[in-house]
Amino acid sequence: MKSAKQIRNDFFEFFKNHDHKFIRSAPVVPYDDATLLFTNAGMNQFKNIFLNLEQPKVPRAYNSQKVIRVSGKHNDLEEVGKDTYHHTFFEMLGSWSFGDYYKKEAIRWAWELFTDVWNIPKDKLYATVYKNDDEAFNLWLSETDIPRDHVLRFGEKDNFWEMGETGPCGPCSELHIDVGGTEDIHGSDPERGVNTDNPRFMELWNLVFIQNNRDENGKLTELPAKHVDTGAGFERIVAYLQGKTSNYETDLFTPILEHISKLTGVPYHPEDGAAHRVIADHIRMLTFSITDGALPANDGRGYVLRRILRRAARFGRTLGINSAFMHQLVPTVVDIMGDTFPELKERTDYVARVIQSEEESFSKTLDRGIEIFQNLVDETRTQKIDALPGEAVFKLYDTYGFPADLTRLMAEEEGLTVDMDDFEKRMAQQRAKARSAHQFKHQQTSGGDWTEVTTGEHSRFIGYEKTESMVHIRHYQMHNDKMVVVLDETPFYAESGGQIGDTGVIRNDALELKVTDTQKDGDRILHYVEIMRGDFEQINGEPLQALVEAERRQAVKRNHSATHLLHAALRKTLGDHVKQAGSLVAETHLRFDFSHYKKVGEEELKQIENLVNEEIRLNARTSVALKSFDEAQQAGALAFFGEKYGDEVRTVKFGDFSFELCGGTHVDATGDIGSFRITSESAIAAGVRRIEAVTGAGAEALNRRDRDVVQELRHLLNCEVTDLPQRVALLATEKHELEKQVKALQFHQMAASLENLITEAEKVADFKVVSSVIQVSGMDELKDAGSALMDRLGSGVGVLGAVMDGAPYVVCVVSQDLTAKYKLKAGDIVRKLGQQLGGGGGGKPNLATAGGKKPEKLEMVIAGVKSLVEQEVQ
Ligand code: SER
Repeated sequence: MKSAKQIRNDFFEFFKNHDHKFIRSAPVVPYDDATLLFTNAGMNQFKNIFLNLEQPKVPRAYNSQKVIRVSGKHNDLEEVGKDTYHHTFFEMLGSWSFGDYYKKEAIRWAWELFTDVWNIPKDKLYATVYKNDDEAFNLWLSETDIPRDHVLRFGEKDNFWEMGETGPCGPCSELHIDVGGTEDIHGSDPERGVNTDNPRFMELWNLVFIQNNRDENGKLTELPAKHVDTGAGFERIVAYLQGKTSNYETDLFTPILEHISKLTGVPYHPEDGAAHRVIADHIRMLTFSITDGALPANDGRGYVLRRILRRAARFGRTLGINSAFMHQLVPTVVDIMGDTFPELKERTDYVARVIQSEEESFSKTLDRGIEIFQNLVDETRTQKIDALPGEAVFKLYDTYGFPADLTRLMAEEEGLTVDMDDFEKRMAQQRAKARSAHQFKHQQTSGGDWTEVTTGEHSRFIGYEKTESMVHIRHYQMHNDKMVVVLDETPFYAESGGQIGDTGVIRNDALELKVTDTQKDGDRILHYVEIMRGDFEQINGEPLQALVEAERRQAVKRNHSATHLLHAALRKTLGDHVKQAGSLVAETHLRFDFSHYKKVGEEELKQIENLVNEEIRLNARTSVALKSFDEAQQAGALAFFGEKYGDEVRTVKFGDFSFELCGGTHVDATGDIGSFRITSESAIAAGVRRIEAVTGAGAEALNRRDRDVVQELRHLLNCEVTDLPQRVALLATEKHELEKQVKALQFHQMAASLENLITEAEKVADFKVVSSVIQVSGMDELKDAGSALMDRLGSGVGVLGAVMDGAPYVVCVVSQDLTAKYKLKAGDIVRKLGQQLGGGGGGKPNLATAGGKKPEKLEMVIAGVKSLVEQEVQ
């Protein structure tokens, strides 16, 4: 039996032998396509080539792409676990022609690989074509020996492939297989089996003939060239070739299932193994997506991860495992897949930790949620309805973190449905709030409408060597309300890899353009300009001087090089799990986001800052080299998640300290950075920290500011710098002491005035009644005054009032003998006083307080205390 590795390798070898070049899988998190949450097809990374925004580096390519299909146009989540061949994460074996060969070769090669290399029986295969694609239909008959009645036509839904709402697309032709089995619905009419839910028939390979683009208005346009984009479901092919009826019984999954059985003590039985399958599927999705930089969160991509994790955790419970367990499966996934996707090996620990902490936090809410769910189910049954109301689903989601699809699944197990429409309505309101946090815009491309000025090659970047050059305008256009020019060559750096775009001027005698930003679009470098002098109408092919704002660029360079040093210092100090998750290299500062699961401590920060400054002092020369990606990786260069394919990569090295792939601009030697200072450290998501820092003049300015502050303090406190902390500590102690003394004095004074009040007290029956408005600064003080009065009063009633923060308050004390003799209670008295003050109050029989809203009534209320007490004792 062939192993999955061998089968993958067969595919690779086959296309290699047909002059295709290996281009490694893009990350599952598409860093440069805002229209996608996850990479959902092998062609995603080639989108710009198909749209003619980028020139292909090779005419033919192949790989195995890591794909996630849980959202948007291609969403298989609901099927996962129920059946044995849908996955949230899977590998898609792909081959591509970029404007090179077309349908004929694609069809011939697909057939050859399936029937010659893998010996799949010809009479088990079915080919489908788009309804009016006669060309493909005939090619199947002329180029292959597929049985004639096995070529079938289908419509838009099955045979027109689109990557999303917008983007490259085209008619497709698929190969399906009849895996056999007992269902006999195909009989003399094979179409009834292909493209139905009949598990006998399975799609294995999709050959897409990319020739159209769908724009934001849904309109289809022809692309300038025709391309081939094929994708074959690896797991399904492996299952078939290994003679299995389930993907889960292949060597891609069995070790994971065995591990799950070991952890749960429940062996896997295909008949009732949904829980095992879901967990095995989901752990692969989580491992790959977290490795590529995604993290569980409350919205967008992160929420998809959270849902998947919770779904799996809950299935774990059905297998009797209540504690965090999935993180333990990560190494098993890495064992199986790590050779093919080496990035997994680098981040195993990190991924496991992220999953564990997410599992632990979910576990806390899960028990309670399950209980609530059961109650909701019972209620629904009592009311004799068979759908859980949307409100219930929403409550479970909102309060107990139950993703709706989890609730639906649990409801299904109880034989119930859920009112998703109502749930969605409630979600819509919630989402409106979250929307600002995560905006998915359709990518703007500047396909047409360029006004040509000169012709020839464009956008050659020459800004590594110089910041000034004579250039020609190739073409220009209005782009999102801004004027954009493209040059033949340019010293302006276009924003990328976190480094901001250059600014400056482009000018000659006739024209002066202020460059406010520089951006990339496909293989164009766009200069956003404002016209300072001259007129675009008269623009001609005359040369212009392009001048980058050099000081700004210099500052950016310092920050960029420092970012690399910081990255290296973080890894040295905190460990190799630290990986870049994002960065901003601006003129004023730098920002670096990285994976790390706890706060970076004060001491660690100091150490990191020191390491960077040491490297700056070593003044290592920067060495930049172009290498193949593999060569660079073997040499140990760090690559960022978002790195794209390409034969050659640029590596930037500072001494033995830092070595990264990078297209940005850098200082000539580390000493140019001047100095480095960290300004903040914070959390930006679970498992991701952010450090901000300044360099060069920025660091100096900050140092000077601090020195000025210290200087001022020194003058104010009249001491040496080194004595400052002690001085300030002393002042604080002294202040505390003085406050205590003031308090004591105030109390003393108050006690004295209470004595006066008592001496002047009026009598009711045989006891004293004291009432007065006093000055206090807080409720505690008022109560203290009340207690002090009680201690001194003997037999009597006392009421003290005060206005604090514009509101009236009273405290009332009643001596115990009076409560016994007259049933007088402080609580009763304050309730009445409170009412008069427009509020209320209460408390114990001997001491109670009240407050109100009418400070102007306080004097009168206090004056009326005596008559109130008189009434009480009658
Ligand atoms: N893009 C096509 C698919 O995803 C073929 O690779 O099915």
